[in-house]
Amino acid sequence: MIDSLAETPVPHRSQAAPAEARSPAESGPLARLQATVEAGLIGRTRLVERLMIALLTGGHLLVEGPPGLAKTRAVKLLSSGLEASFSRIQCTPDLMPADLTGTQVFRPEAGRFEFVAGPLFHSLVLVDEINRAPPKVQSALLEAMAEAQVTAGGVTYPLPSPFMVVATQNSIEHEGTFPLPEAQLDRFLMHVLVELPDARSELEILDLVEREDAGESPARPDPISTGAILNARREVAAIHLAPALKDYIVRLVMATREAEAIPGVSGRIEHAVSPRGTLALAAAARARAFLAGRDYAVPEDVSELAPDILAHRVIPTWRASAEGVTGRALVQSLIEHVEPL
Ligand SMILES: Nc1ncnc2c1ncn2[C@@H]1O[C@H](COP(=O)(O)OP(=O)(O)OP(=O)(O)O)[C@@H](O)[C@H]1O
Ligand SMILES: [Mg+2]
Repeated sequence: MIDSLAETPVPHRSQAAPAEARSPAESGPLARLQATVEAGLIGRTRLVERLMIALLTGGHLLVEGPPGLAKTRAVKLLSSGLEASFSRIQCTPDLMPADLTGTQVFRPEAGRFEFVAGPLFHSLVLVDEINRAPPKVQSALLEAMAEAQVTAGGVTYPLPSPFMVVATQNSIEHEGTFPLPEAQLDRFLMHVLVELPDARSELEILDLVEREDAGESPARPDPISTGAILNARREVAAIHLAPALKDYIVRLVMATREAEAIPGVSGRIEHAVSPRGTLALAAAARARAFLAGRDYAVPEDVSELAPDILAHRVIPTWRASAEGVTGRALVQSLIEHVEPL
């Protein structure tokens, strides 16, 4: 699903009041964590910002890219900055739903079955190569993501709060994979593409890893408590979205449904964005404003995040797909045509 528009910057047409952003240090522990995670990764500002936004909105992330681009490293750095438990699941075609959720185990000493929780019962769950898991496992995972609970043996168990899934998908391996059901991709707040670094970044990565191997690890701030994350989420929810900005979000989403007037998009969308996409865009824009130290969102928060929030929710017609048109390219055209204010 990688396409050439992946890193094309969204046009800047922000007509909002100038954003008086505070520095990360002033913006509280979450922005400090963002800065720490960013310092441990070369050239992954966008990925880190999106990880933080998912954490702040209770969303889940789908990260797609070739292997070896520090996806695991990014999630591990994030988890080490949180007082939250972390687990990693490597998906394979023989994985079973119970390998994720847990199983009922018979305890002869007690003479009864007991539930042994699986690796989903952690706050931060990295699911590597989700498209190598069989459909039943994907479905169990997506259900857990949507409902924050797991049902095993007829009993429902709540997952921890916060609960966040970062799933990775390899963009070079398609053989022996099970593509995620398009209708369920919607469960991910964002679909982030990561691309290969340039020569300068490669050099910086080399230096960074060398310094770490030599034991020169930078000082890390104290891990953030679960309570602080939940407090920050409440603050994010209170960030102001001006009526004109809500209108912009709605017009963007509506454009995926009524694209007749937009050249290049007309007749090419099979499935448009649902209200879940509208809510996701509003929530993510608020979180981006929060991270920038603002108590109001601006059009740029919306236009900057819209590709990663809407692209995987727009399903092109099969004819458009056959012509190589991706949901991301369609969304990009919509952003260019819908005026922010
Ligand atoms: N942008 C980067 N900044 C810092 N280190 C990087 C970066 N890109 C790659 N690395 C280094 O490359 C190695 C591979 O990273 P990691 O294992 O996190 O990749 P991955 O994307 O999870 O790979 P895979 O898809 O195979 O699981 C690590 O040693 C990591 O430090
Ligand atoms: Mg990895």
